[in-house]
Parts: sequence; structure tokens; C-alpha cells
Amino acid sequence: MSFQLPTKEEKHDYVLEQFERIAKGYDLSNDVISMGMHRAWKLRAVLELIGERGAGKYLDVCCGTGDLALIIAKHLKPGSSVTGFDFAQNMLDLAAVRQEKAVRRQERLAGSGKEDKLKNVQINWVRGDAQNLPFADNSFDGAINSFGLRNLTDLQKGVSEMARVVKPGGYVINLDLGHCEMPLFAPIFAFYFSRVVPVIGGILQNDKTAYTYLPESLTTYPKPDGITAIFQKAGLKDVVHIPLAFGTVAMHRGLKL
Ligand SMILES: C[S@@+](CC[C@H](N)C(=O)[O-])C[C@H]1O[C@@H](n2cnc3c(N)ncnc32)[C@H](O)[C@@H]1O
Repeated sequence: MSFQLPTKEEKHDYVLEQFERIAKGYDLSNDVISMGMHRAWKLRAVLELIGERGAGKYLDVCCGTGDLALIIAKHLKPGSSVTGFDFAQNMLDLAAVRQEKAVRRQERLAGSGKEDKLKNVQINWVRGDAQNLPFADNSFDGAINSFGLRNLTDLQKGVSEMARVVKPGGYVINLDLGHCEMPLFAPIFAFYFSRVVPVIGGILQNDKTAYTYLPESLTTYPKPDGITAIFQKAGLKDVVHIPLAFGTVAMHRGLKL
């Protein structure tokens, strides 16, 4: 039987159940499927988010196991804060474990000159729905979502909520799959994504369904111009699309005025 994407009505519960289920093996699968490249994409996105500021209060929406939130924290000056936000409790639990490990590592390195600044940046993990953020208007210096937007039922609401909670002068960043259109590379990518990725998911996570959903979810996700339009409709200005990895990944940045 062919794979069927969830309907709009089913999507919230379907996605939640799926991420609760695959949380434990998520990081390994992510590293294998992206061949480790997601780390470089995330670092690039964090540099776009923070810009020259180096300090402030940042929000990572759909934070998953918290790797991006910790990258943000490592780039911030003491006294700053990062809030990781997700609806899957199993993901948030793993994010808290990641944070503890990072703090312990820092304690081991204390005095060596190699320690990072994690300890002096406050990190919070908050559970909730990205389409209805429980934060006041204009309360963050920037907000980012990596590989989460595609999973929301209402993409416009997801971006508009990020725009709402960011202060004027701050950036909203979205990093997600793109639609590669390079003549030679596009068919290779399509084959890898639709045929190889589900097999990897089946082997590593014993969950072929979740890793069939992944390429299928891209079929209904807008192309970069569509995401630009969503950013503009959310009131964001100077919206730019930055293609990464031959366009297989799309980063968008918009400014809140
Ligand atoms: C593909 S993972 C991305 C995790 C992480 N940001 C990364 O880049 O590795 C998508 C995450 O979005 C979360 N998510 C999906 N829909 C959500 C929603 N409506 N509200 C909050 N979190 C959601 C999932 O629980 C999951 O942790």
C-alpha cells in the first residue's frame, strides 16, 4: 500500500506521536541522513540570527533535542538566554540531557581556556504548540526554526507567531528542506531522499514509516518563493532566501520592523 500523508485534521497528532516515537534515535539518524552537514547549516543559521549582537534573548522553535539552541547559547555573551520550544516531551527531555552533558564538559575544561560560555547563558525548555506561542509580543531578540516548519498544520501561523514574539530590529530565521532544481543533482537527491532515507530510517530506528513521511512531507511544502511570501505576509521585511547544499536546504531570513 502506498504511503498516505496525514490530513490537515490528523497532522498535529500524527506529527506529535511520530516525534515522541523517534526521539531516542533522532540525533544519530539526523547525522547519518545529512552526512553530518546539518551541523554546518545550523551554525550558518545561528550566525544569521545573532548577527553582530552577540547577546540577548533568543527563541528556538521546534527545538527537538536542543542542538541548535546550544549552538546559539555558545555564541552569546553571559547574561543572555535561549528558550528551546517543542511539543514533544521526549525531545525536550533529550535536550535537557544534552544541556547537562555540555555543562559537565565545560566544568571538566574549566581553567583550560577551552571552555565555552554555556554556564553563563540561561537555557529554558518549554513545551507547547509552535502555532500558538505562549510568549508576549516583542519579547525575543530573534527567533529561529530549523526543520520544523514543514511539520506544522498552518505554516503561516507558525511564521506569524515567530514574527509576533520578536522585537523590532530582530530576525526571524527558517531553515528547512528546499526543492533542489539543479539539472544533474536534482534526480540524485530525489532518489536519495525518497528511496535511501526510508531504508536508513528503517535500519537505524526500526521506523520506516517516519522516514517515509520525511520525503513525503516535502511534496506539500512550498518552494522557497512560497516561504518568502509567507514571511512577507507575516509582516517581515527584507526577506532573503539563502540556498544551501545545492538548494536541497533553504534558509530564509526576515527582519521585524
Ligand atoms: C525534524 S525535527 C527538528 C528538530 C531540530 N530543530 C533540528 O533541526 O534537528 C521537528 C521538531 O518539530 C517539533 N514540532 C513539530 N510540530 C510542532 C508543533 N506544532 N509545535 C511544536 N513543536 C513541533 C517536533 O516535535 C520535532 O522535535
